[in-house]
Amino acid sequence: MTTTAPKGLEGIIAAETEMSFIDGTQGILEYVGIAIDDLARNSTFEETVFLLWNRRLPTQSELDAFTQDIRSRYQLPAGLEERITTLPKTAEPMHMLRTMVSSLAMFDSDPNQNDPDSARDKALNVLACAPAIVAAFDRHRRGLPVVAPDSSLSIAENFLNMLNGEKPTATMAKALDVCLILHADHGLNNSTFSARVVISTMSDVYSALTAAIGSLRGPLHGGANEGVMRMLNEIPTVADADAFITGKLERKEKVMGFGHRVYKAYDPRATYLKTLAKQLAEDTGNQDLYEKSFAIEKVMEDAVAAKGIYPNVDFYSATTYHCIGLQLDLFTPLFAISRLGGWSGHVIEQLSDNRLYRPKADYIGPHDAPYIPIAERG
Ligand code: SDX
Repeated sequence: MTTTAPKGLEGIIAAETEMSFIDGTQGILEYVGIAIDDLARNSTFEETVFLLWNRRLPTQSELDAFTQDIRSRYQLPAGLEERITTLPKTAEPMHMLRTMVSSLAMFDSDPNQNDPDSARDKALNVLACAPAIVAAFDRHRRGLPVVAPDSSLSIAENFLNMLNGEKPTATMAKALDVCLILHADHGLNNSTFSARVVISTMSDVYSALTAAIGSLRGPLHGGANEGVMRMLNEIPTVADADAFITGKLERKEKVMGFGHRVYKAYDPRATYLKTLAKQLAEDTGNQDLYEKSFAIEKVMEDAVAAKGIYPNVDFYSATTYHCIGLQLDLFTPLFAISRLGGWSGHVIEQLSDNRLYRPKADYIGPHDAPYIPIAERG
């Protein structure tokens, strides 16, 4: 039975999942039935990953054991840090992350095992090591000594400590932890679909997660948060926002951080990030970033809200990440660090009830074409 799907598979259900539910009309996001706002207010990234992978919240002892297991894997495999410090300092962090996550397979004695326990084990390796990979490369490119991971710290605290060489304030660590929760999973987005497509061939977890990272860097997907920051830097003052955005819309240019294939209402993650960005901007003297963002949102609301185009997760995460002190080209790697939680859950879910993804293409080329010898070609 052949059915032609709309371009971009818009509206097509291509998998079942028990992890995240999105109502694009109401602007609802739930992880295993729990509203994203409740998780952002009350949970931690580690607890959220446990929830996504196990479909339930952990007991205290389960959370302690899970957290300990992740922290015991923070240290990069021997030799990987050295490889990172030989990379070109001008490499784009997302190209570096994709390459180094892929190389983790070569430090795994049994990289291709896909039984549930093995898949979970490999996913934990990547989840635990990705922050150290990003931080080690950033220290290398800045000519600073690499900071070893600290297994007494959470994923968020440890990342900031390795990046900055000092422990973060509780406020910054909490803000980053909330961002990791908000970005952890989101249905069958392009990068998650990429991971499921790759693992559906019974390839390996490292290959599936590498494919997802490659997808996420795209500016129409996870790369948008960097695009938002570049846009905010390009707008001279708050007063210039209106003309700047109006000009982009007139030129039919996409405004980064707005619009969504599923949400035709306000992205609930953006709601939370807007509040966080406002607070952090005030705390760190970056009010102009928040005020520019707010002005952009008003212009877009008047111009395109009627078309269902609202801020998405990337719009206010840009200001939030900047206020936390992240460099612009580390925004998308941070998105990847968080989404490794969701991607891994989907890889394990796909393996639990797998069928090879193999759609068809509608051939629109010629038929019965002759083979013309090269000497007779024009
Ligand atoms: C993420 O899928 C996920 O869940 C992704 C994500 C996740 O958590 O994994 O939520 C994370 O990727 C968020 C999206 C980040 N991307 C951006 O912010 C880039 C800017 N956004 C657009 O490129 C766009 O909105 C998409 C790609 C996100 C969705 O595009 P669609 O569904 O393919 O819609 P479209 O491009 O066909 O646009 C429909 C109309 C067009 O106008 P018309 O030609 O009908 O007149 O809406 C317009 C578009 O021009 N439009 C925009 C716009 N987004 C859509 N116009 C201006 N600015 C925008 N951002």
